[in-house]
Amino acid sequence: MKASQFLAVLLAGTALIAGRAGADIAFRHAVTGETLNFEYGKPGGDTDAFKKFKETGKNPYNGDKTAIEKGHSLYLSACSGCHGHEAEGKLGPGLADDYWTYPRGATDVGLFEILWGGAQGMMGPQNTNLNADEMLRIMAWLRSIYKGDPAKAEWLK
Ligand code: HEC
Repeated sequence: MKASQFLAVLLAGTALIAGRAGADIAFRHAVTGETLNFEYGKPGGDTDAFKKFKETGKNPYNGDKTAIEKGHSLYLSACSGCHGHEAEGKLGPGLADDYWTYPRGATDVGLFEILWGGAQGMMGPQNTNLNADEMLRIMAWLRSIYKGDPAKAEWLK
């Protein structure tokens, strides 16, 4: 390869990497602040909805009746044992009110970060049990039963 060709390839590659890094939001662990890695965990979650979410930070399933129903049944098997059937709180805190141990939970990016990466103690990472798309559905269900102050619903802003 000639030097000029090599340079062209190099520049194109750099542009590609820079473009990709700029396109997606950086998701961080709620406690450690480490960047979350989506390369591992339960497969099948890299759907169009999740791709959109990574770019916009908005959950495309909010207000989507079918996705919310699916999210409800996923919640009942994966979360209700610790957070209560109506997300009223049990071993873990309530998830349908406006009090958050981790204030980021009031945004969809923050809520996803807690689900994917976990928090402390019994709240382990959920990504081996649920894939990213399933988490978005559970989140949409939680938002649909929200009972807190509408002004604190950061995910709507
Ligand atoms: C084994 C019990 C257990 C399971 C299962 C579990 N959680 Fe938790 N969760 C907890 C505990 C305990 C905490 C408090 C941890 C902390 O404060 O760091 C917590 C914290 C959270 C928080 C942070 C709440 C806040 O006020 O900031 C969210 C959000 C959450 N869980 C969502 C979920 C969802 C959704 C699921 C199902 C996918 C789930 N959890 C499954 C026990 C559990």
